[in-house]
Amino acid sequence: MSSLPPLLLANWKMNLCVSESRSLARAIAKSVLNARKNKSTRANVQVVLVPSFTALDAVARVGSRSGAFSIGAQDCFWEERGAYTGEESVCSLREIGVSFVLIGHSERRQYVNESNEAIRKKIECVSNDSTMIPVLCIGENHSQKVLGKRKSVLQQQLLSALKGLFQRRLTREIVIAYEPVWAIGTGVPATAVDCAEVYRYIRGLMENAWGAAAVGRLCRIIYGGSVSESTVTDFVSKDISDGALIGGASLTASGFTRIVHGVMDSL
Ligand code: 13P
Repeated sequence: MSSLPPLLLANWKMNLCVSESRSLARAIAKSVLNARKNKSTRANVQVVLVPSFTALDAVARVGSRSGAFSIGAQDCFWEERGAYTGEESVCSLREIGVSFVLIGHSERRQYVNESNEAIRKKIECVSNDSTMIPVLCIGENHSQKVLGKRKSVLQQQLLSALKGLFQRRLTREIVIAYEPVWAIGTGVPATAVDCAEVYRYIRGLMENAWGAAAVGRLCRIIYGGSVSESTVTDFVSKDISDGALIGGASLTASGFTRIVHGVMDSL
């Protein structure tokens, strides 16, 4: 386990338009602030909302006014600026106040054929920015799981994305999100026991490259895939995972805040 606080990221994907995102952010802010007031000694949970690009600014304003949560982006491009139609730069994200960036989400690997090389460049670009933390998403699909290829798939995804960073000393935070593709949006999460084994494996690979002390200080490994209010504490409270990346269950204020409260209560 990392010495950093548990991290709860709400990935809203492409589910909400700007006004819906703003309203949900306001409702979550209110509820998170209430929870912190009532549970002040146990409230050390970092909450991050990850809206679509067009809603980032509106949600960031709610975040900075309330102080209830930080902001994440769902992707970014690896160049600072230039002729890259449709892409978003780290420079624009920084200006809005984004502090986390998801990279290599399985939906991007699947629907826009995001390559390992593109993922590596994005990881390096975000890691070079002192204000932002990359969240590298990795995970095997159903047939890879059935064929017993989970570890080799995770190893390949991790090593190719972190190839450049593994050559240097680790000086900034990084988050690894283990999101088995077969668990995303299916209502069937991985088991905590499965995750514990995967985390040990991922942590071992990172410790080989960076050393245990730096990994303990700067790396969080979190879980994503059908996390709900009834399962989140299986992953976060039993000292298994450093947090969760939540999709569907983060789309209502009541659902997401029950997850936040559940984790706070378990600390
Ligand atoms: P669900 O929580 O809807 O399964 O989505 C998980 C996910 O992909 C988060 O990035």
